Amino acid sequence: MCGIVAYIGAKQARPLLIEGLKRLEYRGYDSAGIAVLNGAVSVVRTVGRVSVLEDRLAESGDLKGSVGIAHTRWATHGEPAERNAHPHVDDRHGIALIHNGIIENYAALRTWLEEQGHTFTSETDTEVLTMLISELYDGDLEKAVQGALREVTGAYALAAICEKEPDTLVVARKGSPLMVGVGADEYIVASDASAIVAHTSRAVTLDDYQVCKLTRDSFRTSTLDNVAVTPRIQELELELEQIELGDYPHYMIKEIFEQPNSLRNTMRGRIDLREGRVVLGGVGQYARELVKARRFILLGQGTALHAAMIGEYLLEDLAKVPAEVEYSSEFRYRNPIIEEGTVIIAVSQSGETADTLSALHEAKERGALALGVVNVVGSSIARDTDAGVYLRVGPEIGVASTKAFTGQLSVLTLLSLFIARRRFMSVEQSSEILRTMERIPEMVERVLAESDQIRAVTERYCDRENWLFLGRGYNYPTALEGALKLKEISYIHAEGMPAAEMKHGPIALINHGMPVVFIANKGAQYEKVMSNIEEVRSRGGRVIAVATEGDTDIKRYAEDVFYIPEIPEALSPLLAVVPLQLMAYHAAVIRGHDVDKPRNLAKSVTVE
Ligand code: AGP
Ligand code: GLU
Repeated sequence: MCGIVAYIGAKQARPLLIEGLKRLEYRGYDSAGIAVLNGAVSVVRTVGRVSVLEDRLAESGDLKGSVGIAHTRWATHGEPAERNAHPHVDDRHGIALIHNGIIENYAALRTWLEEQGHTFTSETDTEVLTMLISELYDGDLEKAVQGALREVTGAYALAAICEKEPDTLVVARKGSPLMVGVGADEYIVASDASAIVAHTSRAVTLDDYQVCKLTRDSFRTSTLDNVAVTPRIQELELELEQIELGDYPHYMIKEIFEQPNSLRNTMRGRIDLREGRVVLGGVGQYARELVKARRFILLGQGTALHAAMIGEYLLEDLAKVPAEVEYSSEFRYRNPIIEEGTVIIAVSQSGETADTLSALHEAKERGALALGVVNVVGSSIARDTDAGVYLRVGPEIGVASTKAFTGQLSVLTLLSLFIARRRFMSVEQSSEILRTMERIPEMVERVLAESDQIRAVTERYCDRENWLFLGRGYNYPTALEGALKLKEISYIHAEGMPAAEMKHGPIALINHGMPVVFIANKGAQYEKVMSNIEEVRSRGGRVIAVATEGDTDIKRYAEDVFYIPEIPEALSPLLAVVPLQLMAYHAAVIRGHDVDKPRNLAKSVTVE
């Protein structure tokens, strides 16, 4: 995915666009560019971060104009290079375009466009879309964009300007997010609210296959067939300070330390201790279907998948209902069997992950009831599910997901209890679990207090290039999450797996000094985990254990121990993951990496 910003109004576009790009840079950041219209279209593009673009702009003189577009790229077609950066400009009419997504039929279109005489300068699919609009242009940019979008397959959020229409900005979307901020005689368009809230709190989220033509004092929304539609203006709930870094050095550490409060926000108003009930307004209307459900299929990718895996344990353990978890990308293409009474739960922080969105559509087409467990309000997955529960953890800017993960676990626990209480669970049992949940934020605070100790331990091992993360039961997915966190921001190779699985091959990897992280909190399989720890130690592995406060025995087995408060197993991942998040963060900082924008990554993958 990437970041798109566009502006039309009375102010100079350049500073607004650059500020917007900075707010969106977490979405994708291998190159960036800007185009401003002032008679002619002026374009500046650079490889690397937005700061490189800023430096180039400082050298190249001012870009004057009050209509403009700007883009941060996450390459899908064509390497990160200046020629492949957006905006792309056509070769006939001075049309500049920025685009988030993939044009899947770009190759055939490119061949045809070359036969029509167009000359390409990049390897991107976006330039093909630019030339297609150019080919169809006959003096009406809105019409040319509509016509081009009727010909392409794939996903897009785009913005286009044209030298011949200096007072027009045309935007459109399908499958990638796009919002139009409605100001006083000005509009600011962006991939998400974080680049809009500084200018206005009123915005329109375009639906798929919608085109919007903006002038300084009007906007018209239509379908690809030019049928006018009435957009819904919403009030943005996002506050600017929610996306400010504050006193933290990185968004990731800010969001790790926000977890006590983000968990309070997730649970607020959703727990009725007296009745031992969970109140979930977003799914209440489907309570009967959920209680009668015969199977749940949880879908996600990455961290969301790990949360979904724990959701599978929660649904079966607490609600006594069959559940399974699938990679969205695998489910989507394996011709899944969806029987009567199947409920899909799409787990996604951004609500824009293309694999999960497509899997959701596939399941709905086959008759499943679809729930969303999503953070971003009004996102595509939130809009396309029948019902859902928002995480309410606030914007997550760091590319490595942390507070969203614990928010997803919290929501999946509440959802399991919502169903369990309507099936077999007693008031007493449910109330006891809910009372413990209400204490989790303060427990997380106690774990966060160990951050300096965790950093010191991490420092001893972060020169090792291979780690293992092992856990059992509810904390097998937690081990996977710990490995992913370390991989994606420190670039250390790490593998997570069930602790028992290590003996079936991976134990060959254990060599002297290899860090092996065990989630070894008190639980049903504690003794078995101790045996696995011994197996590692006897082969020279260095054991780092996450253990339950008061467990002194474990110090005989583990070189280093991070303690978490005593807690029922079903809730233990909410605490056990925190030391793993902190280890990954500290390893990345010690190794000198860009924690919030790790190489090759983007915050949400809106392409399949
Ligand atoms: C998490 O740290 C990763 N950045 C990534 O795996 C992420 O969880 C995955 O892309 C799913 O994103 P989503 O939750 O927005 O759907
Ligand atoms: N597919 C386009 C490209 O590779 C857009 C990628 C993006 O969303 O940033 O340039």
